[in-house]
Amino acid sequence: MILSIILRTAEGLSDREGDPSAFRGCGVPRLPRRCRSEPRCRLMALLRWQRFAGVPHRGMMAAPPDQHGSAMLSYRHAFHAGNFADVLKHAVYVTVLRYVTIKAKPLYVLDTHAGAGVYDLGSPEAAKTREHRAGIERVLAAPGSWPDLLAPYLELVRAFNPPGRLAVYPGSPALARAILRPQDRLELVELHPTDHAALAARFARAERARVVRADGLAHLVARMPPPERRGVVLLDPSYEIKTDYEAVARAIAKAHRRFATGTYLLWYPVIERTRVEALLAALRATGIRAQYRIELCLLPDSPGRGMTGSGLVAINPPWMLPAMVEAGLPWLKQRLSAEGPCEAGWLVPE
Ligand SMILES: C[S@@+](CC[C@H](N)C(=O)[O-])C[C@H]1O[C@@H](n2cnc3c(N)ncnc32)[C@H](O)[C@@H]1O
Repeated sequence: MILSIILRTAEGLSDREGDPSAFRGCGVPRLPRRCRSEPRCRLMALLRWQRFAGVPHRGMMAAPPDQHGSAMLSYRHAFHAGNFADVLKHAVYVTVLRYVTIKAKPLYVLDTHAGAGVYDLGSPEAAKTREHRAGIERVLAAPGSWPDLLAPYLELVRAFNPPGRLAVYPGSPALARAILRPQDRLELVELHPTDHAALAARFARAERARVVRADGLAHLVARMPPPERRGVVLLDPSYEIKTDYEAVARAIAKAHRRFATGTYLLWYPVIERTRVEALLAALRATGIRAQYRIELCLLPDSPGRGMTGSGLVAINPPWMLPAMVEAGLPWLKQRLSAEGPCEAGWLVPE
């Protein structure tokens, strides 16, 4: 009840001002006038505002288990679709999928935390945070040519939209479906009842695609190895439960023992650096070779400020991925005005 009053108050103010950074009178500090046009100030204000308004973000603690035996999920990707983290994650995902579909042999793709599939950027959720403005909108508007790491992904985002407009954002299920061929198989796992229903409706008639309501990590372990013996797994948890960080590393270790030649892409948020370090240490400790890590942070590490950056660990990446990332990441960093850590390299060599 109290949260809904705060949310309504927050919506009213942000509608009036047209900018969350212009919040005032609700215990949220108002930005100095000179600061409002600077991307860093605007981002910090956005993070403060989102915490204040109760927008569910990654790393938020989930409620106790519901009747399905799973935690009640608060995170909804509709609030965040097309943000800076999606741009990096989806550019890498599209790059990997395009490469592995060059060979004619059938491919299995598993998206363990699939979300709703496609996001309406005019929805109340997207309008509340407008995170896509500092992400996909900014990148699409870049003058000149896009680097190879970004170009196929950006072309796909454009293809989902009317010419010259950004109305929807394709999530990982929609991007994969646009790339996969008739001989390939796509499995999409989503636990949240609302997002699962939206995803199931969207893919109801999609051939060779299956939507499952289950725990993504348990499903991953159960499905390995795929009969195709060629596979890509995207692991994109919401990290609502703090044990998710350990759980994801354990699940990858188990899946890799059953299917060592698959490509695994794990996304992680940078909220608290110690958690990232622990996750990377757990991944190194699995003994799995060929782990390539990519990270891009908008702000320097700042505990308590929400998600300041994000990263990916690609296990068994296609051979061309490191060179493409190394060429494209500086462009993306500049385009997003990122001021935090930005790096790519082998966490564990091949
Ligand atoms: C970051 S979103 C996914 C975004 C999507 N992969 C994309 O890139 O478009 C994470 C999703 O995981 C779902 N989720 C959370 N816990 C889960 C679990 N244990 N198993 C499967 N899905 C889960 C959330 O409901 C949320 O929709």
